[in-house]
Amino acid sequence: MSVHRQPQRLSIVDIRQRREPGSLVVLTAYSAPMARLLDPHVDVLLVGDSLGMVLYGLPHTLSVTLDTMIAHGAAVVRGSLRACVVVDLPFASYQASPQQAFLAAARVLAESGAQAVKLEGGAEMAETIAFLVERGIPVMAHVGLMPQKVNALGGFKVQGKEAAGVERVLRDAQAVEQAGAFSVVLEGVLEPVARQVCERLEIPVIGIGASPACAGQVLVTEDMLGLSGEQIPRFAEQYVRVDELISEAAQRFAREVREREFPQGRHCFGMPAGGV
Ligand code: KIV
Repeated sequence: MSVHRQPQRLSIVDIRQRREPGSLVVLTAYSAPMARLLDPHVDVLLVGDSLGMVLYGLPHTLSVTLDTMIAHGAAVVRGSLRACVVVDLPFASYQASPQQAFLAAARVLAESGAQAVKLEGGAEMAETIAFLVERGIPVMAHVGLMPQKVNALGGFKVQGKEAAGVERVLRDAQAVEQAGAFSVVLEGVLEPVARQVCERLEIPVIGIGASPACAGQVLVTEDMLGLSGEQIPRFAEQYVRVDELISEAAQRFAREVREREFPQGRHCFGMPAGGV
């Protein structure tokens, strides 16, 4: 019997142990070429449902489907060798019951080859997280600002501003840890509240708009590259302007086609030397 060699990826067990601030680097990826570029530099490639907004131009993430997440997850797995790949469960694929969540998560792992799923929700999702974990599905939780609850929250609003909000964030983070999540994304929370969460939890907290005290930091890659349009979120850092490079290249191509400078002989097959 021949043994199929698996790439040596960072495991869930490795990630679970990263608790020091700055010890987990996470970026989103939705495609094989982007995964290939990011893979040597990150610990986790997150196939976030943010792809609905970033790639598909949707106003929110609510209409992203499970099939779409699986297709992009499989592309990211094919494009990477060493990072742990985590795929978001999209809205309405897991909230109805633990059984629904298991069927969705099992499809993601089996069909994409990813190692774990991420799902949004705190105390209300604890039973579901425990159900998945007990059945061999590693879960990264996501609390604080939960974009799939945009309608209930009345927008993408920073959480933990009033006493009840602070309590909710702390309770949610502890509930997902107790349920067995191996890590938790903490999004859009006031810094002192995020710091308290990091102090209270044993599992790594991965911040986005949270705190430098978090074990990990995650960004939407397109925000970091200048590919998210004019308005980048306050919590993101734009490290390069790939948008400007793309415009420049498209402008040059358009000019060369119109001025008949492209294509040249070297771009054509069997064109006589000097022919135009
Ligand atoms: O969908 C996503 O990309 C995410 C990250 C922003 C954490 O959930």
